[in-house]
Amino acid sequence: MQKERGSWSTGIGFILATTGSAVGLGNIWRFPYIVGTGGGGIFVLVFLFFILVIGVPLMMAELALGRAAKRNPVGAFRVLAPGTSWWVVGLLSILSSLLILSYYSVIAGWSISYLVQTIQGGFAGFTNQEMGEQFAQLTGQVTAPLFYHGLFLFITVLVVKKGISGGIEFWSRILVPFFFLLNIYMMIQVLSLPGALDGLVWFLRPDPTALTVRTALGALGQVFFSLSLGMGAILTYGSYLPEEEDIPGRALLICLADLALAILAGLIIIPAVFAFNFQVDAGPGLIFITLPAIFNQMDNGVLFGSLFFLFLSIAALTSAISLLEVVVSYLIDEVQMKRGVAVILAGSAVFILGIPSSLSQGRFSLQILGYSFLDFMDLLASDLTLPLVGLLTVIFAGWFWGPSKAQGELDSAARPLFFQIYFPLIRYVIPLVLGYIFFSSIF
Ligand code: PHE
Repeated sequence: MQKERGSWSTGIGFILATTGSAVGLGNIWRFPYIVGTGGGGIFVLVFLFFILVIGVPLMMAELALGRAAKRNPVGAFRVLAPGTSWWVVGLLSILSSLLILSYYSVIAGWSISYLVQTIQGGFAGFTNQEMGEQFAQLTGQVTAPLFYHGLFLFITVLVVKKGISGGIEFWSRILVPFFFLLNIYMMIQVLSLPGALDGLVWFLRPDPTALTVRTALGALGQVFFSLSLGMGAILTYGSYLPEEEDIPGRALLICLADLALAILAGLIIIPAVFAFNFQVDAGPGLIFITLPAIFNQMDNGVLFGSLFFLFLSIAALTSAISLLEVVVSYLIDEVQMKRGVAVILAGSAVFILGIPSSLSQGRFSLQILGYSFLDFMDLLASDLTLPLVGLLTVIFAGWFWGPSKAQGELDSAARPLFFQIYFPLIRYVIPLVLGYIFFSSIF
């Protein structure tokens, strides 16, 4: 079984793969549009605060639990709390992974189709309105989006089938650094457009009167989604982590890298929205109407646009890999399946689950509670199941697993302070904050 599980070949490979899991559509697609609907600067500020106070400690906790147990999420809770029902938390996180991957893959499919269209020069000369129509036209079709959803999943399945160090480390190693550079270049281009500074101000200046429980929940959900927390992905990656790796330092680095890319995406998209007079609260389509307009303005726009959508698709891939790996590691460890069988089974299930999300954008317009099926799935996961699993995980790590075992995983002689800050946060602060936001928004 140990051989079926695998392990990271190098420490840097682990950092890149975990960063690859965190960095994805959450940073580039979700963050700007949630900032747009969530009120700008105040949302950004709350998000920043939650990353540091909740995101970093929770990532440390998930990595520590994973490494201590060396199991998938269900197995981890079984090993760490034998004879209890805590394994249900693991099961919930595996179901969340399936749920998220189902629509994540649909949006990644849109990214691939934008890649194809950009390469063909398909957005040249479009007006703002035509950008919007183009997005509606693409996502409203039946076969093309389903095809790209299937294609994206197929590639994900191929990589996960190769096992964790061969497939996942390789892609992340190439992707992360290049994507950063491209984004920085684009930010410089966008900020020099006339009108862009209004967007910059809107993005950076917090308006405290706009702070509501709804804003806080939105920011919280975005922290979970963006850092891949609350669905066992980080826990699973931690289970492949060698003993000598320093968890607190790694966790901080990964969270900061993820934060940096989200802010960078915000500094590209929001100023561009103001410069081109798009609607900042346009919702999930925001980047797909804004980015082509940016590339139309740039010298060598087709080249940069193609590169961007290529990188975005690969960034989505490295995240999707971690989501699928959660389910696959469960099937390998707990159901004793062979990796190949597990991957194909999970991949097929996700494809079928994603069909209603893909169709919900077009003439079938499947809706639940006034949201399109896809948006509903997204909210269900990020604002409900992820924070819930997160809350249960901190209660487990803080009260049941307890300080001495956590200390064994987290306390490194080099960073004694880390643990002293971490533990009170995990035990008292995070459960209270999470519990408060969570329950006051439900009732
Ligand atoms: N964090 C990823 C992103 O920002 C999405 C993701 C969520 C990946 C959960 C794995 C687990 O795109």
